[in-house]
Amino acid sequence: MTYLHAKRTHAAFSRFEAANTLRRFFTCERALVLAQAGWLPAIARFEVKTSLPRHLWQDMLAADSLRTRVFELRYPSRVMDTGDDAPLAHVFAAAADAPNALAFVLGLEEVYKPALHSAYTRYLAAADPLADGPSLRFLQAAVRDKAAQIGELGSFRKLLDEQANDEERDAARRWADALQAVMTALNGVSAEPRARYPAVAMELPGRRLFVPSETTARDPRFLHPHFYWPDNFDPEFPYGDGVALQLRSAVSHLNETWATETAGAILYAFAETLGWDFVVDAARWCYDESRHATMGYDRLLSWGYRPEELPLANFLFDSSRGEDPIYRIGMIAYFETKNIGKKTSRAKSFGEYGDTVSQYDMEFDWADEGMHASFGVRWIKALLEARGDDPQAGPKRVAARCDELVQLEIDSGTDAEFEEVRKIAAAVQTRALSFASDD
Ligand SMILES: [Fe+2]
Ligand SMILES: [Fe+2]
Repeated sequence: MTYLHAKRTHAAFSRFEAANTLRRFFTCERALVLAQAGWLPAIARFEVKTSLPRHLWQDMLAADSLRTRVFELRYPSRVMDTGDDAPLAHVFAAAADAPNALAFVLGLEEVYKPALHSAYTRYLAAADPLADGPSLRFLQAAVRDKAAQIGELGSFRKLLDEQANDEERDAARRWADALQAVMTALNGVSAEPRARYPAVAMELPGRRLFVPSETTARDPRFLHPHFYWPDNFDPEFPYGDGVALQLRSAVSHLNETWATETAGAILYAFAETLGWDFVVDAARWCYDESRHATMGYDRLLSWGYRPEELPLANFLFDSSRGEDPIYRIGMIAYFETKNIGKKTSRAKSFGEYGDTVSQYDMEFDWADEGMHASFGVRWIKALLEARGDDPQAGPKRVAARCDELVQLEIDSGTDAEFEEVRKIAAAVQTRALSFASDD
């Protein structure tokens, strides 16, 4: 009996071999998504705190495509174990254990992101564009993302370096060099179906087992009052209209920094318990809040403000300090979407003032917040269910406790702190007179 034979020049990997490699890539990406999210509260520099969420969102998209593809290739198996890649998984999990923020970013810039960029490039060169076309499509996007991220991480590193001391710089250098040595000894991230991992000692100087920060690091260039606007503690203080409304909205957007940090904190806290679908939503949530904070920052700067005139507070993050992190989901779900009903009318007012940028930002923000409200309901219920609690009655209890926690934080404010915020708000408003034009 004779048979037909054909040659496929690019058939480098079998279906299961391809799945094995893509699963390895997923493990690496997932570890970096968690590490970047967990670190956000502890990073002071505003531009880094609000840009890293875009990176982790891109990494989540790559991971999500990888995971889906592994399931396709291994159907009907839905197992995503680490397999033989445990040594590599340990090195990626160590990313979060950096001794300081500069070291963390340097590790991403010099070691982790380049290792993935290189692995994806090698996989793309070897893979079959016909049989494995779907993988090629998202890995090409991931290669572009990683290349851009590496460039941006270089500028983040410089910004963090400006605010670091010599001790932190030395620790960061030693950390990144040691990581690089370990990664090299393991032959990097392999694009081969079976990677070989020589026994390597993980000697990482300054390694600190990562513990999520309960407080937030703040960029020293800004003002740091306890509250960011008088209406945070004084319901009589008018939200205002005209310039007052433009300013209140922009300062509020800037202060969504706390929401960015909170989304990062909950992603890290509940990735294991709630699983991958939660990580997908939380990464997007985090990225959205970072865009809202940046919208406010950009508008304020374009009107002429400097960071040192602007209040950047953290009382909404601080109010859940030391509490069960379910209240962090509650905080971001309730307090961030509270004004959703007013957003369209505010956008309309901005349009009437001819402030098309505030209007534009508010309309995009509105679309994000609608989605976040559903994230909140879904994941608070899922968490309560996972804990054997009542998913129907529970969310109300979580919301009530969040209200209580915020009230306690407000009650902890001193007269001097209230006075400080009133002065800052008055100065911001007075300063606007020098920027405003009648036309
Ligand atoms: Fe927001
Ligand atoms: Fe939101």
